[in-house]
Amino acid sequence: MPDSLILSIESSCDDSSIAITDIETKKLVYHKKISQELQHSVYGGVVPELAARLHVEALPKILEECKEYFPRLKAIAVTNAPGLSVTLMEGVTMAKALSISLDLPLIAVNHLKGHIYSLFIEKEEVLPMTVLLVSGGHTQLIEANSLNDMKLIASTLDDSFGESFDKVAKMMNLGYPGGPIVQEKALKGDENRFELPVPLRQSPNIEFSYSGLKNAVRMKLEKLEKEGLCEEDVCDICASFEKTAVAHILQKVKKLFKQKIPKNFAIVGGASANIRLRTAIEELCKANKINLYLSELKYCSDNAAMIGRVAVEQYKNKEFITVDKIDVKTRLK
Ligand code: KG4
Ligand code: ZN
Repeated sequence: MPDSLILSIESSCDDSSIAITDIETKKLVYHKKISQELQHSVYGGVVPELAARLHVEALPKILEECKEYFPRLKAIAVTNAPGLSVTLMEGVTMAKALSISLDLPLIAVNHLKGHIYSLFIEKEEVLPMTVLLVSGGHTQLIEANSLNDMKLIASTLDDSFGESFDKVAKMMNLGYPGGPIVQEKALKGDENRFELPVPLRQSPNIEFSYSGLKNAVRMKLEKLEKEGLCEEDVCDICASFEKTAVAHILQKVKKLFKQKIPKNFAIVGGASANIRLRTAIEELCKANKINLYLSELKYCSDNAAMIGRVAVEQYKNKEFITVDKIDVKTRLK
């Protein structure tokens, strides 16, 4: 029976999750996530105050189920940045209380490193690799050499890839999160019906932007709404938008590959569940003989298993933090 375990907590946005990971084998002994998507859906996006209240309810409920593992715990890990400050605080407060009461060291985990390490849940790490991180808050290209040597190559000038799906869905009152809903509607739509501008097409820079595309969708919708928006219009808008959103990423990744072909490439983050994006990048990597790594679909969106996987490495490096030093940060440099 494994007796070196880490308990990890994730509450950076709208998922309350706790995992217990075996430090030696990296196996997940326990993992649970309670998502708040339904509660936020009526608002078309995450309401931070509501999210914090829901974490207060959900986290202790999950923790109850983990009590049997307490005697075998070696550390408590928690996401402390980046994310919504009020929701991060719920996880951090619980982690502090556990660290004090069980007399265990505390590990502060960067959520974005968590997304990268979602690739290595229950597996050995494969680094260096170039990573495309697409989530609700981020669209980044990262040179990940090791856990503590990661370089940001590109990011978004405004909205993120996932966020643009959420906003487009909100414009049509389709609910939250927009990604899976827009993806499903897009499958039934005509991707060539509406011509939308591929962002930063002429720019030589490797960077992203989604606000222009979002506004182009808004303008098309305003026109359509004058005549009454039908289901076919919605599906065609979704398909045309998704095609353009993915084309933008593909163009910039191709630019990056022109500079240097990496040996290993990965897509991580909640929006890496997007099938069109996965397929496009898969084909590009195949053509360039690049090894492509994808997280399992269940680990793409926020979860504590990925936080626990990072924590295993930090535990081995003795990267601990004291209860009085840990702080939450909404953004990171
Ligand atoms: O990583 P994540 O769970 O939370 C953040 O750290 O932000 O990502 C959530 C984001 C949301 O914006 C959601 O709409 C998007 O990922 N997403 C998708 C898909 N599934 C989730 N975006 C596009 N296509 C999808 N299939
Ligand atoms: Zn995330």
